Amino acid sequence: METNLILEPATHKKTNLGFVWKVFRNPLDALTELAREQGDMAHVKLRKRDLFLLSHPEFIEQVLVKQQGNFIKGPSLQRARIILGEGLLTSEGEEHLAQRRVLQPAFHRQRMEEYLPLMNENTLAHLSKWTDGARVDMSDEMMRLTLNIALWSFFGSAPEGAADRVNKSMQTLIKLFPLAQMPLPESAQALFPNFKEARSSLGAVTEALLQNPQSEHAKRALVNILKENNSGQFTDEQIHAHALTFLLAGHETTALLLAWCWDMLAHHPEVQMKLQAEVDLALDNRFPTSDDIQKLSYTRMIVKETLRIRPPVWAMGRQAIHDCEIGGQRIPAGSTVLMSQWVTHHDSRFYEAPLLFRPERWSGLEEHSLPRYAFFPFGGGNRICIGEHFAMTEAVTVLAMIARRWNVAPTQTNLAKPKPSATLRPDKSVKLIVTRRAV
Ligand code: HEM
Repeated sequence: METNLILEPATHKKTNLGFVWKVFRNPLDALTELAREQGDMAHVKLRKRDLFLLSHPEFIEQVLVKQQGNFIKGPSLQRARIILGEGLLTSEGEEHLAQRRVLQPAFHRQRMEEYLPLMNENTLAHLSKWTDGARVDMSDEMMRLTLNIALWSFFGSAPEGAADRVNKSMQTLIKLFPLAQMPLPESAQALFPNFKEARSSLGAVTEALLQNPQSEHAKRALVNILKENNSGQFTDEQIHAHALTFLLAGHETTALLLAWCWDMLAHHPEVQMKLQAEVDLALDNRFPTSDDIQKLSYTRMIVKETLRIRPPVWAMGRQAIHDCEIGGQRIPAGSTVLMSQWVTHHDSRFYEAPLLFRPERWSGLEEHSLPRYAFFPFGGGNRICIGEHFAMTEAVTVLAMIARRWNVAPTQTNLAKPKPSATLRPDKSVKLIVTRRAV
């Protein structure tokens, strides 16, 4: 496959209102079109700053890894501080490094063994409410399931009503995300009562969870690492911010990934059958172990293909803090640099027939010929998603547990349409018919 870089300098343009309008109407199409028109290093002049869309894996690697010191998070994540506070997702520089050092051990691959039983028990409890032949809202189901798993894994319990309160607040905050993007002072944002209410409800739930009595589960839960390893470097406010970050970042993206997986499986019965054959053989009626998670290779391929074709994080922004150069193009300090998983994961130079859902493309040989950053659903460099192993373990085990027991079939002819907001959501809930398998 052709993977040559396009190194011509970007075309300089005046303030591009046409582009702004296209982004407003459909950001996925707008970015795809921009990359098609201008190539791997697209440049748009916005009101105050230059915007660059970098679509080639080598350019993405420059920003995320090789020149990461020249960049900080983009303006929208910086503004997410009004929701998340100064947690891992929003901190920068030395402070970020120090936080990451303390938190990283909780997310090592080996730790997944401790979270896996919680994932499996929660999934089974969830499935006990399904009835044969029912029409199930998979978006909602996966959101509730991953939220319960996050509550148990990170806090050691899921008190009555906590999941509902978090879910409700999240929906409000996501709806009002465009507001959070506006460069308003915090005092002005507080004028919007729903926003304020959702924020304080989330704050109250997190606070209550942090005060949780020390059950056996709670002792091993993630927030305890925060408390125990805190030799004075985290204030109470920071512990709260981390806990809130894990709760929000730790369930919504995985829930979307799973909802997209089920939509794909319902519309690709041949893939669903192969998945069932794999889990039937590997698991019979026992829970997946961490060994199984590595060995369920077709299940993993389905997860990866879904992350490619429907990446829950569809674009990431950075701001240049120094003048720098990438692929012969000068990037002035202050510029915004965008890298879009949506654009690069659909590039036909790296993926044959990129619009097709084809898990087989992840079978060893094809995968190895991919440039490293042609696939970056979890980002990269020192800001790579800390929850990557957690999310992959959760997605594989939930898919395996459900596929072993249930068939899914679509209620609509077409796949759900992707609707980009802070994350890539289906435009309408994914509703599917579930039928019990004779196992
Ligand atoms: C399918 C699921 C997930 C996807 C697609 C995803 C994607 C990402 C991406 C792309 C980034 C990098 C953002 C950037 O560099 O601008 C990120 C960062 C992060 N993710 Fe995830 N994530 C997922 C699940 C999780 C889970 C389960 C957690 C659990 C705690 C988590 C917590 C975080 C945190 C704390 C960061 C910030 C890391 C840092 O800056 O050091 N994510 N995620």
